[in-house]
Amino acid sequence: MSAPAAISKKVDSLRSQIRHHNYQYHVLDDPEIPDAEYDRLVRELQKLESEYPELITQDSPTQRVGGEPVKSFGTIQHLIPMLSLENAFSEDELRDFHRRVTDRLGIDKGAELSYAAEPKLDGAAVSLLYQDGKLVRGATRGDGTTGEDITHNVRTIDAVPLSLIGNDFPTTLEVRGEVFMPRAGFNAFNEKAKKNGEKTFVNPRNAAAGSLRQLDPRLTAERPLDIYVYSVGQVDGGVVPPRHSEILDRLGGWGFKVCPERKVVTGIDGCLKFYSDIGRRRDSLAYDIDGVVYKVNRLDYQERLGFVSRAPRWAIAHKFPAQEELTVVRDIEFQVGRTGAVTPVARLEPVFVGGVTVSNATLHNMDELHRKDVRVGDTVIVRRAGDVIPEVVKIVPERRPKRTRKVGAPTKCPVCGSAVVREKDEAVARCTGGLFCAAQRAEALKHFVSRRAMDIDGLGSKLIEQLVSTDRIRTPADLFDLTKDELMDLERMGAKSAENLLESIERSKHTTLPRFLYALGIREVGEATASSLASHYGKLVAVMGANEAELQEVPDVGPVVASRVRAFFAEIHNREVIQRLVESGVTWPESEPAPKSEEGKLHGKTFVLTGTLGGMSRHEAKDRIQAAGGKVTGTVSKNTDFLVAGDKAGSKLTKAQNLEIAILNEVQLEKLLSDQ
Ligand code: IVH
Repeated sequence: MSAPAAISKKVDSLRSQIRHHNYQYHVLDDPEIPDAEYDRLVRELQKLESEYPELITQDSPTQRVGGEPVKSFGTIQHLIPMLSLENAFSEDELRDFHRRVTDRLGIDKGAELSYAAEPKLDGAAVSLLYQDGKLVRGATRGDGTTGEDITHNVRTIDAVPLSLIGNDFPTTLEVRGEVFMPRAGFNAFNEKAKKNGEKTFVNPRNAAAGSLRQLDPRLTAERPLDIYVYSVGQVDGGVVPPRHSEILDRLGGWGFKVCPERKVVTGIDGCLKFYSDIGRRRDSLAYDIDGVVYKVNRLDYQERLGFVSRAPRWAIAHKFPAQEELTVVRDIEFQVGRTGAVTPVARLEPVFVGGVTVSNATLHNMDELHRKDVRVGDTVIVRRAGDVIPEVVKIVPERRPKRTRKVGAPTKCPVCGSAVVREKDEAVARCTGGLFCAAQRAEALKHFVSRRAMDIDGLGSKLIEQLVSTDRIRTPADLFDLTKDELMDLERMGAKSAENLLESIERSKHTTLPRFLYALGIREVGEATASSLASHYGKLVAVMGANEAELQEVPDVGPVVASRVRAFFAEIHNREVIQRLVESGVTWPESEPAPKSEEGKLHGKTFVLTGTLGGMSRHEAKDRIQAAGGKVTGTVSKNTDFLVAGDKAGSKLTKAQNLEIAILNEVQLEKLLSDQ
């Protein structure tokens, strides 16, 4: 049974709508409808196609994804060879090119020769063949003469039109362009792969090339690939305009994505300006480029210029300084960051990469170091893209010298000698030196003086950095010895500001135990935990003397926090700093410790809190019940002793009533707590 004409018409209309929106979204980056509406159109088309499979065509927008895997790629012969480009690495080399072009064309060097200038995309070149406006073949460049048939894979790229827009396209149209993976997609892809323990890609170019060469198109379909087209190959049964820039405009009109950064420029000066403009914006582009390409714009000139061996005489790639280079690892050291994170760093034979000389590159963390297995003496690929910290991408195994040693994890902080600890689920190892460690000092100080900690007004980051770098301040205790003269020696510090700062330092001496504990900057000890510790122990000495098991009796303190607190106070340096702070006059009211759980009046009693309490937050109520020895759980069961019901109590209240559990209002809870 063949599909009714109305259905066939509907299918055609859905396809042309979807194509239009695909084009708006993927090519023009200017969607006209929300994603949900687009999805609805696709689903409607899918439904009709599944009801009437005879209506399915190869160019239907539903046919992008999900072809069967192939065993190997077929080879194809390019109808016209896919050439490569000559490179210019300097302005002089570019001037030579321009001179050769103008000489050959017999035109005045200063003449206004137009070039089509485009970014040089860092991806993989492809050829797309269209017959009567339908995509019939996609191929890699291969060796320029013979490529691989990757039709199934290019079909999965949303920005590759499966059928062309309009009716003025040539019957045979071969379009060439660069498939690339935008940086954001590349980073997200690698993050995910790393998390799943799968292979990551070294850079977006490899990611694009690797994705195109998947035997299973479903895998390609999952990769965030994009394309910009930059030329035509074979053209029959139609004409293309007489200038390169106009051809690209025409390709844009037929539904192809063309790089929006392209420009027609005049003469060598125009080329150089384009190069520096794009170079400046390089890091803010969404994709990697490794230079710019200039093409003599007039096709008749291109024809007259012709080719040398495998490159045209009418085009040249003006390259940016390479972002990846080879060099040798001289040493591997460990650097301590602000939070104590100990990062392996490769000390390198200096190498010019990404426009600067690089002699250090990060190895991120121990897992990365071991995954990449970087050793002293290794030859490595170093990458410096934009302002990003240079990193070691991978080693070159063939160049590894004999007798290298695997790098072990440090056990002591290279800066302060404190223990280095790596928690089970953490990627980074950290120095436990805290306030004592110079590398952590500045950041620790910033935290110490911050508003919710010691609240020292007028001591900004810049001042702290000056004080730390001149070694005037080594620990927070030194803050309290600062003199007016010393402060006035600092940049941008007048007599009045120095006095104000000294006053606020003085004022900060009267603090509270929770603030003080928070100010110490113990990892995992935020304001809430500092408060719990303070109210549980009442006195600083008691917190400092508690062992891990005891610490875990504090509400909300689990094994991780307990071990952090213990490690911090176990460091003699931290204890010394605290001692000096107290001697400088830092003081707070102390109180009696909260009763021990087994002594608490509410010991053995289980509470559930529900609804909104007026006078205290649920969190506060929970802390107080726990401080009195009670337990707070989330669900009402026969083991519940009390349900504390505030306003708008819902199903928990009903359940408690059914189970005949004692129900307390806020006043009754307050009484129970204060009676103890
Ligand atoms: S034109 C005969 N334009 O660079 C002209 N190529 O080194 C051939 N590429 O294989 C290419 N961006 O993969 C051209 N805007 C651009 C390009 C570009 C990147 C790549 C392309 C080619 C390689 C040549």
